[in-house]
Amino acid sequence: MTQNSPNQRRTALITGASAGIGRDLALVFAEKGFDLVLVARREERLQALAQEVKGKFDTRSHILAMDLTDPEAGQKIEDNLAAAGITIDALINNAGYTVTGLFKDSQWQDQADLIQVMVTSVADFCHRFAPVMAERGYGRIINVSSLAGHLPGAAGGTLYAASKSFLIKMSESLSLEYVNDNVHVTALCPGFTYSEFHDVAGNRSEVSKMPNILWMDSMTVARQAYEAVMAGKPVYINGRMNRFVALLARLLPQVPVRKLMARNQRNAGPRAN
Ligand SMILES: NC(=O)c1ccc[n+]([C@@H]2O[C@H](COP(=O)([O-])OP(=O)(O)OC[C@H]3O[C@@H](n4cnc5c(N)ncnc54)[C@H](OP(=O)(O)O)[C@@H]3O)[C@@H](O)[C@H]2O)c1
Repeated sequence: MTQNSPNQRRTALITGASAGIGRDLALVFAEKGFDLVLVARREERLQALAQEVKGKFDTRSHILAMDLTDPEAGQKIEDNLAAAGITIDALINNAGYTVTGLFKDSQWQDQADLIQVMVTSVADFCHRFAPVMAERGYGRIINVSSLAGHLPGAAGGTLYAASKSFLIKMSESLSLEYVNDNVHVTALCPGFTYSEFHDVAGNRSEVSKMPNILWMDSMTVARQAYEAVMAGKPVYINGRMNRFVALLARLLPQVPVRKLMARNQRNAGPRAN
């Protein structure tokens, strides 16, 4: 199925819908006929997006202004949706950011928050919503990982790549667990994508030195994500160049690949994406 019929409305919950890839995923799912549950901290952005999709696609949106560093976020969302009578057919775990700099120089609370937002809450949401999808015989889950999850670790941004590798493995396992339930689970792995990510990370000028060929726009990433999850791909790397880089990282012997990572790091500073 690629498009919902008007009398069979489905609902997609999207975290991190206030900006970048998440905002464009919301637009794509709305265009395909899904109603939306929009989650992020910046409520006014979510309200504006809800107005936009109402006008363009007659989409109904339910807004949940929430900070996903809250360990109770999953329970609060589940309770809120139950009270509103909303069932989730598609789950897009997209909210994310990085903690730049070296691990030893960081505050533990910042690292703990990153794990909560990008690992624990993603696993929690899959654990809550996927079984209900399976019972109903339909579900689509996108866990937004990264090309970084396919590359060797580098100094700096330490838990970012680690969390993204976690999402790839978890999504592969879940896609097999639900293979007979019409619940598709996809780890989406974009490379450098134009969004607010690097402004939040504070490394925009550094990453802007990366050649244009490595960058993609967030709407292309979102459209490809939609097609990938509908097609049931367990892992999808956006863009030929990113697929080539991931392939090299897998095929080349690990010693020269690590040396290359270290040399890039000396040239570009501690990695943040
Ligand atoms: N851009 C890239 O180059 C790139 C590459 C590979 C993977 N990715 C991944 O793509 C995903 C989306 O990133 P993006 O590039 O679209 O970045 P973005 O433009 O900065 O958007 C990040 C989104 O995450 C939300 N978010 C961050 N912290 C949150 C929290 N504590 N609670 C709730 N929501 C939170 C933000 O909303 P609020 O600030 O309103 O809460 C925002 O909507 C991330 O998982 C990122 O790791 C990005």
